[in-house]
Amino acid sequence: MSFSGLRVVSFESRRAFEMESLIVRHDGTPMVAPSMREIPFEVNQEAVEFGKQIIGGKADIVILMTGVGTKFLVQVVETALNKKDFIEALSRVTLVARGPKPVSALKELGLKAEIVAGEPNTWHEVLSAMSQKLDLKDKKIFVQEYGIPSRGLIEGLKKAGARVSRVPVYRWALPLDLNPLRKAVQTVCDGKADILLFTNATQIHHVLQVAAEDGLEASFREALEKTVVASIGPVMTENLKEIGLPVDLEAEKSVMGLFVKEAAEKAPDLVKQKRKAAEHKFEKAEAKVYPVKPFDPEKLKDSPFLKACRNEKVSHPPVWILRQAGRYMKEYRDVRSRVSFLELCKNSDLACEVAVTAQEKLGVDAAILFSDILLILEPMGVGLEYVKGDGPVIHRPIRTKEDIDSILEEDPKESLAFVMEAVKKTRSALKPNIPLIGFAGAPFTLASYAIEGGGSENYLKTKQLMYHEPEAWHLLMTKFTDATVKYLNAQADAGVQALQIFDSWVGALSPMDYQEYVFPHMKKLFSSLNKGVPSIHFGTGTGGLLELMKEAGGSVIGLDWRVEISEARNRLGKIPVQGNLDPLVLLSNPKTVKDKALKILDQNGSRAGHIFNLGHGVVPQTPVENVIALVNAVHEYTIK
Ligand code: CP3
Repeated sequence: MSFSGLRVVSFESRRAFEMESLIVRHDGTPMVAPSMREIPFEVNQEAVEFGKQIIGGKADIVILMTGVGTKFLVQVVETALNKKDFIEALSRVTLVARGPKPVSALKELGLKAEIVAGEPNTWHEVLSAMSQKLDLKDKKIFVQEYGIPSRGLIEGLKKAGARVSRVPVYRWALPLDLNPLRKAVQTVCDGKADILLFTNATQIHHVLQVAAEDGLEASFREALEKTVVASIGPVMTENLKEIGLPVDLEAEKSVMGLFVKEAAEKAPDLVKQKRKAAEHKFEKAEAKVYPVKPFDPEKLKDSPFLKACRNEKVSHPPVWILRQAGRYMKEYRDVRSRVSFLELCKNSDLACEVAVTAQEKLGVDAAILFSDILLILEPMGVGLEYVKGDGPVIHRPIRTKEDIDSILEEDPKESLAFVMEAVKKTRSALKPNIPLIGFAGAPFTLASYAIEGGGSENYLKTKQLMYHEPEAWHLLMTKFTDATVKYLNAQADAGVQALQIFDSWVGALSPMDYQEYVFPHMKKLFSSLNKGVPSIHFGTGTGGLLELMKEAGGSVIGLDWRVEISEARNRLGKIPVQGNLDPLVLLSNPKTVKDKALKILDQNGSRAGHIFNLGHGVVPQTPVENVIALVNAVHEYTIK
């Protein structure tokens, strides 16, 4: 196993030649760019000062982080002080070693570490071993440092009540000739490096410093999404992770020769895996491509759905399913596993894909735009988020007159331009005889989310504002109505054939209160919609409001299952209706689904203007076969 010709970049300095020949020996194409230069420490004042403090008996604990550093420290102290006095004084303090290397450096000096941190010998282990075995409060501690200050360790010790001084014993500078390093950074950014070998924590800091100076830090970091990063050991790994870089391989043995050997064995597979993952990430947002279908207004006009909207006779009742593109469908879940719900709504290609997939898979007579009623709230500045498991959350709910005044009033045609894009794409991807339904939330239902801060059971805060501050309430409803009218008309202009207005929760109001607090706004909304585009006025729990809803407007009235369709039609007169199967019937089996559907169809009888649907949205637990069985049952039904 070998690098098989891969381009291997190393930033090793002191042992640059050795590194280069190791890479060549394992069949790699080396690019070794020294990244650091050691600065002599004979004149290191901190180390000399440290020696004086130790000899003067001022220290309680000394932490030795590296073997090389420990030896070097003694050499520096020796230049100014008596070595024997220093060693003797050290033997009287508590010595802590980060790992086996400082332990053996101490041994050579005739000293013994009282505490040795466990593997993997990062500062975390040092701190936890010390906290377990020592009382750190008010102790004077010196920390011998290697290259980079151990900030985490120092903070941890200070938190435990210790007084801490740093003793840096070797310092690294950038090499005098930066050209090889610059070239290596550029090679990585160009995507021409396959694997990077890091053998020392300072390397990455210097590499990033040079990249930043050349304006390449972001592209360097981005390039590492496709380049394998190998670390010589846990300390190196920790440093890489701390600055937000990936680590694809950590050496089993922190020895340079073995590290390069292990990297050579594993690199070819790792490089392949990483490239593939990067590609997948890129493809994540890729949607199906649909051929553009011709726009055929005649075919659309004659579709059963639009005929029913106009109360015209049809041979078979049209059917579609409320929330037909949703989590109950595997194809939807697959798309959702790649993007968040908001990303899906804002990606017009993906939104198009899920809407078209649902229509085609179910064979329904209409498609509904993929979006959500709450998106209109986002550009108003209320902080909309969809939280997994909790549904929608509004982070800055609207509760006062001031909140209402501060609602941002942008034209949804601009602020929700991605919705218009989705309309255009979905329209052109659908079969020419399948109408597309656009939609929006009605002002009351939007207000309930905006005021409660999310979903609600009793609409307590909503009703509090409505009853207690009616003026503020009407101002809010006016703002929502105006925005919604613009939004719906923009969707009509973009190409939808019908509009559904979701007043899902308005059934929470008494008829009298509906009349006073909602009706005028709904009346204005419907009368402001583009003429020629039919509208569906939907709500749930609206048995007591149907006549008022009809009077407010809409070409079709939505019915939920709490009202018999025959009764509703008798009350409403000629106006078309949509509904009204209980969505939970779909949790049963195809036969029950069919029986229940036929009862509704029979009840409607020969009356024109019935669009079959559920009374509310299909739930995620629904087996898709039952939904298909429902659509087939409705299609097989012949209207007498
Ligand atoms: O095919 C379709 O109908 C998809 C388009 C659509 C969605 N929401 C997608 C969606 C439509 C028409 C809606 C309308 C909607 N959204 C309503 C009115 C209809 C109704 O059910 O009363 C309401 C009240 C909302 C608000 C909303 N959006 C809630 C309460 C939730 C979370 C709970 C839930 O029903 O899933 C959403 C999220 C949402 N909207 C999802 C989908 C597919 C699920 C998000 C996910 O994939 O995690």
